[in-house]
Amino acid sequence: MGDLLSKYNVPGPRYTSYPTVPFWSDPPSEEQWRQHVKASFDAYNEKDGISIYIHLPYCESLCTFCGCNTRITVNHGVEKPYIETLLKEWKLYTDLFEEKPIIKEIHLGGGTPTFFSPENLKKLINGIAERGIIAADADLSLEASPRSTTLQHLHTLHELGFRRLSLGIQDFDPVVQKTINRIQTFGQVKAVTDWAREVGFTSVNYDLVYGLPFQTVASIEQTVDLVNLLRPDRIAFYSYAHVPWVKPGQRSFTEKDLPDGELKHQMYAEGKRMLLQAGYTEIGMDHFALPEEALAKAFRSRKLHRNFMGYTTQPSKLMIGLGVSSIGDTWTAFGQNLKVVEAYMEAVQAGKFPIFRGHVLTQEDMRMRALILDIMCHFRTQLDRSTPAASEWSERSLEEMEQDRLIRIHGDELEVTSKGRPYVRNICMAFDLHLLRNKPDTQIFSMTV
Ligand SMILES: C[S@@+](CC[C@H](N)C(=O)[O-])C[C@H]1O[C@@H](n2cnc3c(N)ncnc32)[C@H](O)[C@@H]1O
Ligand code: SF4
Repeated sequence: MGDLLSKYNVPGPRYTSYPTVPFWSDPPSEEQWRQHVKASFDAYNEKDGISIYIHLPYCESLCTFCGCNTRITVNHGVEKPYIETLLKEWKLYTDLFEEKPIIKEIHLGGGTPTFFSPENLKKLINGIAERGIIAADADLSLEASPRSTTLQHLHTLHELGFRRLSLGIQDFDPVVQKTINRIQTFGQVKAVTDWAREVGFTSVNYDLVYGLPFQTVASIEQTVDLVNLLRPDRIAFYSYAHVPWVKPGQRSFTEKDLPDGELKHQMYAEGKRMLLQAGYTEIGMDHFALPEEALAKAFRSRKLHRNFMGYTTQPSKLMIGLGVSSIGDTWTAFGQNLKVVEAYMEAVQAGKFPIFRGHVLTQEDMRMRALILDIMCHFRTQLDRSTPAASEWSERSLEEMEQDRLIRIHGDELEVTSKGRPYVRNICMAFDLHLLRNKPDTQIFSMTV
């Protein structure tokens, strides 16, 4: 195992998009962005509907491990102007459409959406619904911190149609919690989980992270034991992404406090073993679900998708990203909003799409995205060796990974073995033409293990 790890534990993308953000090279102008959004809306709204991601960046305190786009404040006066700006941005999009969008998915991400009061979240969702049709089978979900989620939040969001709640747990160990500045008790997590179920949420997800400072295999075992007592429907078991050059908060502990690659892999293997033993199914990269959960069913029937929000059951091709740093995807182009709250708000107030970077996909990008999505979502894909891009795949890496039994190739079918699942990012890298053509000189991605 040690040899495999030292060979494959290299910096690599997480493939929530292809091309990955550092390789976006052809940003759409504002006018081109409008055209891509409109064309995608006209092509897909009636058939598949649209998805909306809304970024709510505020948190009351900084968890020092965090890699998300956040703004730390205890001033709740920021809520109202931010919600007004989001609705103004939504209007910029709906003014482009000549009919009402059919909304199949809304995801509130962050930051901490439950930083906002229930009344303000209601204003936001009602404002979105006013200019669209929320489909009867729409999937409405939110991320929340157990430390700021009240029963009133859950009642209000349930009334608005939310049925999926994702709670940030990370780790229950007191030493780890203190180091990452995130003290949260089992009792708090249990209370919010119980409330959500009583109120009528049908799916509760927990985010866990392995590879955090001072974590040990024993502390992971204790955390998973406690998680199993509450039996969430889904679990995201993330590898800690250490990117202190982007997130200076991560410098509050040192690299010496972090488990090395071998130990980190043992944590993953032990956590996974315990979750499988407890009846969870492994879905895509880093995700587990109870067998009757929608994501597990979608995985079995090969209907799983992946977008910037992670794994989803919704196949929408048009995803509108609202809020600071959000990424929109028209299927033909990506566009990312400004990353600083004030600059984002100023652009929207001036009536402009607040996009600051993006990428218009080429035909080749679209083919390679389909292949990479297949590997990430289904652990298998069909290799079309007649495409010109095939000459640039890393055949050498594929051969090595086959020898190491991470993949099996029969004819044109590539399959990821169960031994290969922890290395799914490495497998995708063999097909990432942008990365193969322009190997970065400095480290821009977190390690794959
Ligand atoms: C927006 S937060 C979740 C909601 C809420 N803010 C909370 O913390 O409870 C999204 C999730 O991203 C994951 N995450 C954040 N920073 C990470 C990092 N550096 N490496 C791996 N996962 C990370 C955490 O599991 C976190 O729960
Ligand atoms: S982990 Fe969640 S609560 Fe903590 S800083 Fe990040 S977004 Fe905020």
